[in-house]
Amino acid sequence: MREKIKHLLIEIDSFTTNSVEELESFRIKMLGKKGEVTILFDDFKGVELSIKKEIGQLLNELKTKTQQKISDLKELTESSREVNKNFADLTLPSQSVSIGSRHPLSLVKNEIIDIFSRIGFTVSDGPEIEDDWHNFSALNFPDEHPARDMQDTFFIEEKIALRTHTSSVQVRIMENSKPPIRTISPGRVYRNEAISARAHCFFHQVEGLYIDKNVSFADLKQTLLYFAKEMFGADTKIRLRPSYFPFTEPSAEMDISCPFCSGKGCNICKGSGWVEILGCGMVDPAVLDNCKIDSKQYSGFAFGMGVERITMLKYQINDLRLFSENDVRFLNQFKTEI
Ligand code: DAH
Repeated sequence: MREKIKHLLIEIDSFTTNSVEELESFRIKMLGKKGEVTILFDDFKGVELSIKKEIGQLLNELKTKTQQKISDLKELTESSREVNKNFADLTLPSQSVSIGSRHPLSLVKNEIIDIFSRIGFTVSDGPEIEDDWHNFSALNFPDEHPARDMQDTFFIEEKIALRTHTSSVQVRIMENSKPPIRTISPGRVYRNEAISARAHCFFHQVEGLYIDKNVSFADLKQTLLYFAKEMFGADTKIRLRPSYFPFTEPSAEMDISCPFCSGKGCNICKGSGWVEILGCGMVDPAVLDNCKIDSKQYSGFAFGMGVERITMLKYQINDLRLFSENDVRFLNQFKTEI
């Protein structure tokens, strides 16, 4: 029995673990109903009287040692659990951080800015809540013009509305600076329209304005041709159709050769080979005078384009609503763009 106790003492001394499960099976192995230490106590009954005292002491020592060992190890495993709770496991694979993507409208707006800055245009902006003068009157809209109607314009109070176009920024720039002026104004605009695949109550425009001495329609045409080629590719052709805007004279609408069929005719361009992308013209002398620029000395051109329209053509998007729904399945597709 002495031998057995000695062996068990060695085993108990050398035992170590930091696992709660292992410690529990050790406890059962030693102190359980059929545990090795417990069994020794059962065997003790049969020990010879002469050595009973000595063996009894040894057995008691063995039991306290075992209990001590178990409680020490228990403390250790619990404190190491605490540590694990507070510190991240550095061996775990890291969680991937998902990187967002730029909105397609921002991509295209930035590209437009980039193209025009290369030929000396600055970027300017103005307020989205605009007064009647900057949005309409200074731009030559007659009082009875339908665009001023409640049905088209979101009025905030009498003569204060959400701007219906970025042409209002033209007026602010001309009022506040002296020619030569060469600027583009990107921004959001609002119109009271029912939301559908082809219309929305807010969208984005980029306005362009160039005022100097001797600015001609040829300058306008050449600037827009440069833009169309940069935006849609070097083979792009443009055509200008006569049109009407209150603030330009003459006015035109510009088409580009259809980027999908290269002008051959497809269902996007409805077989015509051309798609409209912007409105433009020579700034009406009355508008220059409204903005305190001498129309006898200066002339200029202006143009305005819808960013959604350009984006839809560039990325073959066929529903305006996709731009404002923030569906990540749509937005994620622009991840690879800059
Ligand atoms: N403001 C016009 C619109 O919202 C677009 C436009 C047309 C702007 C001709 C211009 C321009 O500067 O010259 O439809």
